[in-house]
Amino acid sequence: MPTTRPLPTAPTWSPIGNSTPRVDGPQKVTGTAQYTSDFHFPGLLYAVPVEATIANGRVVKLDTVEAEKMPGVRAIFHRENIGKIFRSIPEQGFEGICEERRPPFEDDVVRYYGQYIALSVADTFETAKAAADAVRVTYAEEKPNVETDLQADDDPEEIVATFGPQRRLQSQRGDADAAFASAPVKLDQTYVTPAETHNPIELHATTAIWDGSTLTLYESTQGVVNLRGILAQMFGLPKENVRVISKFLGSGFGGKLFPWTHSPLAAAAAQQLGRPVKLVLSRKMMFQTVGHRPRTQQRVRLGATPEGKLVSLQHDYVYERSMLDNHHEDCGEATAFQYSVPNLRVTFGRARRNIGATADMRGPGAVPGLYATESAMNELADLLSIDPVQLRVLNEPKIDEGLGLPFSSRHLLECFELGTEKFGWSRRTPEVGSMKRDGLTLGWGMAGCAWIAARFPAEASVQLRDDGTARVACGTQDIGTGTYTILAQLTSEKTGLPLDKIEVALGDTSLPAGPLSGGSMVTGSVVPAVFAAADSAILSLLTVATMTPGSPFEKRPAADLALEGGWVFVRADGPGRGVPFADLLRRANLRLVSGSGKSEATFGNPEPKFSTHSFGCHFVEVTWQPETARLRVSRVVTVIDAGRILNPLAGRNQIEGAVVMGIGMALLEHTSYDPQNGAPINSNLADYVMAVNADIPKIDVHFIDFPDKELNELGARGIGEIGLAGFAAAMTAAVHHATGVRVRELPIRIEDLLA
Ligand code: MOS
Repeated sequence: MPTTRPLPTAPTWSPIGNSTPRVDGPQKVTGTAQYTSDFHFPGLLYAVPVEATIANGRVVKLDTVEAEKMPGVRAIFHRENIGKIFRSIPEQGFEGICEERRPPFEDDVVRYYGQYIALSVADTFETAKAAADAVRVTYAEEKPNVETDLQADDDPEEIVATFGPQRRLQSQRGDADAAFASAPVKLDQTYVTPAETHNPIELHATTAIWDGSTLTLYESTQGVVNLRGILAQMFGLPKENVRVISKFLGSGFGGKLFPWTHSPLAAAAAQQLGRPVKLVLSRKMMFQTVGHRPRTQQRVRLGATPEGKLVSLQHDYVYERSMLDNHHEDCGEATAFQYSVPNLRVTFGRARRNIGATADMRGPGAVPGLYATESAMNELADLLSIDPVQLRVLNEPKIDEGLGLPFSSRHLLECFELGTEKFGWSRRTPEVGSMKRDGLTLGWGMAGCAWIAARFPAEASVQLRDDGTARVACGTQDIGTGTYTILAQLTSEKTGLPLDKIEVALGDTSLPAGPLSGGSMVTGSVVPAVFAAADSAILSLLTVATMTPGSPFEKRPAADLALEGGWVFVRADGPGRGVPFADLLRRANLRLVSGSGKSEATFGNPEPKFSTHSFGCHFVEVTWQPETARLRVSRVVTVIDAGRILNPLAGRNQIEGAVVMGIGMALLEHTSYDPQNGAPINSNLADYVMAVNADIPKIDVHFIDFPDKELNELGARGIGEIGLAGFAAAMTAAVHHATGVRVRELPIRIEDLLA
């Protein structure tokens, strides 16, 4: 019998905006978190693909005799015996998205080095690998095109890209050519960013299991819902016959956003052999078959008055893509709105190469794009002898001049103010090599940044249970960014339950359809859906409280009641006298009440009312020892305007990670292709060098926390990607300030500085 009793203290604590350690942390550090390749099943077989060793040509003959004879080999699959794998097309609601549409083994044409041309399946991984190595391939080889100088192919004015049509004249206002021609001060430079490869520690992995005509796929994916739709198309199945599970991810950086060819291969093999099949990529394959950030070549022309007011901005960029993909690397994403300028033109072109598919990688488009435009702004500041912060302040726009719309919330000037103060920017002397400390030459540089803020469609459900716990479910993923924790925080905010009383279910297509873990959009997308689901569950609970015989709230209108801190009480009486909600459920003999919620996408909205983006800036200090050509990053201050920060601990962690990646982008990361055979040459973690702890100084991260209520009721935008945008431009500026060398092709190599 529930009794009414006073609460010790009224619940006032909110998890929102408080630093909250990962709710899944204990599972990760105790090894009980199951990543895709950790799942084992009775009768599991292992698959290893055979990789093409040419980048352009045809497979003339596959000799599988020796491989098939090996003990423990179950099958060598290839074009003749893999069975039917259909193509896929885009669907409504950001589903059916795929960068490499050609199904594996569809033809005998090799378009890039490492393309899968056969699949060995065996009782053990070692046998499968040995058999894959024993397959003899005869090719008709042609010279691959992996030329690094990018000249635009002859494409139509409107092209079809992964997310729909794109005009190659991306943005235009005024007369950029005329204004540039007559501008008193001109800058005309070309900036190059290399191909970069996603290197999450967790390799791509798939395990496929069939039960009759039902396929279950354990997959390391940033989008279970999209992958389900693609596989349903590829195997000609209704969507309800496909289930995709992705419980924990060792990151993805965009490489796991969309499906790749190993997943249908594992599924096809499992179907034919009637056994579960696991396929885990090698690190080398990670460089070949699962996407990479394309190389870009970007010409930026700026025209300005001697006082530093921009009169013209032209951004003309070319990016590489594979023979098969339609990925659009939107380097112009931020160009049209970042500065006030009356005359502007942004165009792009594409150059086809014999390389694996290009794809989204953390901050796709804007990261290489802002490297170019922010570098140009820094060079213009030097040309004008104006402080680079001051130049940006002078050209701060009042509205998004590209769309002609107000910003939902833009506080870049506040970012500059806080950043300059925290960094001590006013002490900077602009002359090259003029700043010293402890016998080292210092270089100081800065840049601004921006990243899109939008929502994907999202559905969620919330249950309140008779043991005093809640469960929140959403078919999204946690790629390591903290989505488990955010879902728990949101549910806690609404129900008042502590985080350890909240179960979070995600990463499964049997749950309400959730958003892709991409575009830094998950948090912004799930807030309204989870809140609506919680509100609906709470209303159900309060209705039960009014209808249950013997309930202290019997026959009251549900609207008189409230749930806070896990206690139900009469609103007018305040939370001091209440009943634990679990007591009410038990009284009613209910295990649970549940509610579901849904929110629509804002991404891709053809008629937006606001321009919605996050903003920020980076300040970087490098130290330079010319005697030994030793360059180190010694200090970073980053200030981010990403709306309201729901979890500052996880948020800071995201920005720190992005800055680490930015140091790698500026100094180390690049994928190089062998001009002879088209192979990514440095396809391993020894030769593809990334920033590690020893390269990283103290990273001082600040959020300015202006809620952006246009996106959701909490005012939260995303923080996964923005910390990387602009960073490399701050680095090249710092390096110039220290050394006098202007590097316009990333990464900055020691050879550049010796010149
Ligand atoms: Mo991110 S490139 O949208 O996973």
